[in-house]
Amino acid sequence: MNELAGKHIVLGLSGGVACYKSAELCRALIKEGATVQVVMTEAAAQFITPVTMQALSNRTVYGSQWDAREANNMPHINLSREADAILVAPCSADFIARLAQGRADELLSLLCLARPAQQVPLLLAPAMNREMWAHPATQRNLAQVAQDGATVLAVGNGDQACGETGDGRMLEPAELLEEVIAFFTPKVLAGQKVLVTAGPTFEAIDPVRGITNHSSGKMGFAIARAAREAGAEVTLVAGPVHLPTPRGVHRINVQSAQKMLEAVVPRAQVATVFIATAAVADWRPATQAEQKIKKDGSGQTPVLGFVENPDILATVAQSQHALVGDLFCVGFAAESHDLLAHASAKRERKGVPLLVGNIGPATFGQDDNALLLVDAQGHRELPRASKRALARQLVAEIALRLPVPRV
Ligand code: CTP
Repeated sequence: MNELAGKHIVLGLSGGVACYKSAELCRALIKEGATVQVVMTEAAAQFITPVTMQALSNRTVYGSQWDAREANNMPHINLSREADAILVAPCSADFIARLAQGRADELLSLLCLARPAQQVPLLLAPAMNREMWAHPATQRNLAQVAQDGATVLAVGNGDQACGETGDGRMLEPAELLEEVIAFFTPKVLAGQKVLVTAGPTFEAIDPVRGITNHSSGKMGFAIARAAREAGAEVTLVAGPVHLPTPRGVHRINVQSAQKMLEAVVPRAQVATVFIATAAVADWRPATQAEQKIKKDGSGQTPVLGFVENPDILATVAQSQHALVGDLFCVGFAAESHDLLAHASAKRERKGVPLLVGNIGPATFGQDDNALLLVDAQGHRELPRASKRALARQLVAEIALRLPVPRV
């Protein structure tokens, strides 16, 4: 999607085995439209060659503050002035200590120190052994660099190159890419608590069978991601889908509509925005057999009775929290025809300020979609685009409709 188009990133590598991930990260940043200038410490060059990084970034790599290629002989000034951000990945324990002290005796720390801090943000992706990570000196230095304005990204947990297991792994390239994109996203939902439902529900008939639908959950997951990138604290209540949880999103997995309702109701009471994208089954079997229903050889088919499921969106929209205007509710409508008429009627029926219509069969499982936004003022189409792009547009539309925070 070229989500980093026009961004120039200085990718700094300090010494660590995780340098091998930086090659992939460099490619990923460029694939999203960024230009990347690689700067490596001497230690980093022990782990991956500047030749590799040069080939991937399509620019010569800088490694010395004495590099005479720059006409003014000041690579630390020139490189830091043109950057939209400096990302140090991997950022070793030693490099964090150097930043904390404001050291400037090699190019990468020198350019971090020399950057105009208000215009050029510094992002750090720590990578080290778990004991080094947990050491009070490292934690003290991390707190110091964060206080000095750096954004310290999380570390992963798992197997380490040294054979130990624990905290301190550098995030994976795809995760770092998500973090960089999130970093540049305008924080239009800062301070908001967003609750999203997504995916289908599964209504059990017996322990091995059930009723569900074709909802993939992709739209809801994309919205959860976009809301988090826009600065919200996001909880995602998901039916049975095999999608990765967007970074920084709190996910709760449920199966049935009733379990979804139980997960949603208490969380809606503390949310400020509720977005119901889930394709909730309208009915569930009246009884759920404890054991698998077997054929008895008579050719008789079992008779299934159904009861209606609770309407989660309508329940939340009628809660006191929503009625007094503290919770902005957004519904979705999956229709097969007459989208505007059905979406408008559904908006009234569910009692929500904003309803988003889409043609169900055309979107289930797809990566793109088209949306019709219906509110009290009228309707507006968001033309066909990727679910990711639509999610970002929808988040912006929701932000515009939120009440101005009370002081
Ligand atoms: N919804 C819900 N709980 C239900 C049914 C629907 O929260 N039991 C929510 C959906 O998440 C969506 C909206 O209500 O935001 C509309 O869902 P949809 O299935 O299109 O509408 P229904 O209410 O089921 O109406 P109909 O089947 O008549 O189209």
